[in-house]
Amino acid sequence: MTSDSPPANGPRHVAIIMDGNGRWAQARGRPRLFGHHAGARRVREIVEACPSNGVKYLTIFAFSTENWKRTQIEVAGLMSLFRRYILKEMQDFVKRNVRVRFIGDRVRLDEKLRGLMDEAEELTAHCTGTNLTIALNYGGRDEVARATHRLAQDVAAGKLDPNKVDEETLPKYLDTHVLPDPDLVIRTSGEARISNFLLWQSAYAEYEFIDTLWPDFSAEEFHTLVSGYGGRDRRFGAVTA
Ligand code: FPP
Repeated sequence: MTSDSPPANGPRHVAIIMDGNGRWAQARGRPRLFGHHAGARRVREIVEACPSNGVKYLTIFAFSTENWKRTQIEVAGLMSLFRRYILKEMQDFVKRNVRVRFIGDRVRLDEKLRGLMDEAEELTAHCTGTNLTIALNYGGRDEVARATHRLAQDVAAGKLDPNKVDEETLPKYLDTHVLPDPDLVIRTSGEARISNFLLWQSAYAEYEFIDTLWPDFSAEEFHTLVSGYGGRDRRFGAVTA
């Protein structure tokens, strides 16, 4: 199969935990931020590879609620990278018909970054190609807690009947409420953990933990993983004959 023909029964929504930037940089005797910059270039390549792989939704973990514990230099460098990335890519997203959304708690992010995030979302709101979702200051438990808070407010305001709260209700309050659940979650760099990423949404996802460090992850490897997914039998807990 060439990368021009999307794999049959491939994943519609792929989520990626982009790990290994720091180790990639350290192996080259460079500062960690050098790895993050190389990682940002990979993001572009993978977004571009989505249409030919039949991937309609791509969700990437850019900064977790735990990442604030890194050094001040690294956090500031990452925030500056995100600002520059959005500013630089915004027009290109429109040209390539990519709709951009952000998930996570925006409150702790600086005003300039928040403004750029809003701008990118508005500017690409009409795009109908790939749906790129960037998780920034995102944590799965934090998202569920914020959703529960809003749900409780609706109950208190009489807008929601507590007896009608079921597993269809909570997802409507999650940051991802307009997205389908991920079908495939990929984590690079050899760690077999999900690190608080899309906890609710990934209940039935397939996982791929691969050794490649994120700055080395290529469109070819993405294609291989997406193609491999097509051969699996997802039963969602049921038994097939
Ligand atoms: C994990 O690698 C990576 C991050 C915390 C940041 C992810 C950010 C990027 C890929 C940069 C670009 C993203 C966008 C959207 C522009 P790590 O630092 O934990 O690596 P390590 O485990 O080797 O230390």
